[in-house]
Amino acid sequence: MHPQLFFQIARHSGTAASIIGTTRLNARTSLSPRAHPIHLVIAALTLLACNVLAASEPIRPGELWLDNRAQHVQAHGGGIIKERDTYFWFGEDRSKDNDRSKRHVACYSSTDLVHWTFRNQVLRLADPENFGPRWLLERPKVFYNKMTKKFVMYMHIDGPANAGDAGNAYVLARVGVATCDTVDGDYTYIRSFRPLGKESRDIGQFIDDDGSAYLIFECRPTKGFYIAKLSADYLDVEKEVSFIRSPLEGGALVHHDGLYYVIGSLMTGWKANPNQYATALKLEGPWSEFKDIAPPETNTYGSQSTLMLQVVGSKQTTVIFMGDIWKPYSQWDSRYLWMPLEIGGGKLRLPEPREWSLDVYTGEALIAR
Ligand code: GAL
Repeated sequence: MHPQLFFQIARHSGTAASIIGTTRLNARTSLSPRAHPIHLVIAALTLLACNVLAASEPIRPGELWLDNRAQHVQAHGGGIIKERDTYFWFGEDRSKDNDRSKRHVACYSSTDLVHWTFRNQVLRLADPENFGPRWLLERPKVFYNKMTKKFVMYMHIDGPANAGDAGNAYVLARVGVATCDTVDGDYTYIRSFRPLGKESRDIGQFIDDDGSAYLIFECRPTKGFYIAKLSADYLDVEKEVSFIRSPLEGGALVHHDGLYYVIGSLMTGWKANPNQYATALKLEGPWSEFKDIAPPETNTYGSQSTLMLQVVGSKQTTVIFMGDIWKPYSQWDSRYLWMPLEIGGGKLRLPEPREWSLDVYTGEALIAR
């Protein structure tokens, strides 16, 4: 069904129940008075099935996003990779009932980016290097390495300077690496390190058109963030490609229509702030000045960037802004703000969040009015 039609139906009928109502009414008026009631029911059910199957459900920014188990998706600060027709979403699993002595990463799959199937808690990691009880694992990102046929996960690892310290838990400033032979299997932790020997906190991922994989990481001492190429086996961060002298977190990058667009957030911790973007013709730069992606007073509509996901369809390419709406005191309830970006010609704008639908095959996105 064309998305426009979906929204017309959604506007006029609102729920599946009211679609049944409409369908029944039509069926009654068009069938002869002698039609057996069973025919009416079959007609109604057939029409309902067609409607329900064809109508793509909308993405609802900021609302609970339920997986196939009817549980809120736990993939905060996440990343997505696509394997054939399936998208895999990885992120921080902050479930309330998680074992507090471990840190968790969850993986979900989807073919339409709307309905997500829980696959596995791919990482249930006990303190791997004696970081101490307050150690942190944030923003996991997974890459697939064609050469080694391994899935390689990067994560932000942090903790106090000494295992027992009560103070700042963001001193270690490292990345951790874990690998797996299958996309949603149990990942094995390998090690942690400082990429290029530098302090690294928020990380982002980018896969260029030629398949090259990059880690984006924020570095406080140098007051900016790096775009760095991974080694051939992805187990190391090999080469600085660009350093952007702007202290931004939540780094997200996309190559769209001949231009690189990077988004980052200001450094206000869990509190939302005006996220900004810059562009460059080459990954190496030079990068333009940063501009707001949304009216600054909205603080990015309460969200923080984590990834830009490009959906290339048969008719159109849509770039999705994936953001987190953090709830620091009830992390498990943190929400997601996904919206299709207005992007092109060196400009990028995050539209005001509303329900929207996406056809992953045509690439068309339609925002409800
Ligand atoms: C944010 C960062 C999050 C988390 C938080 C802690 O700026 O993006 O991943 O580290 O700070 O305050």
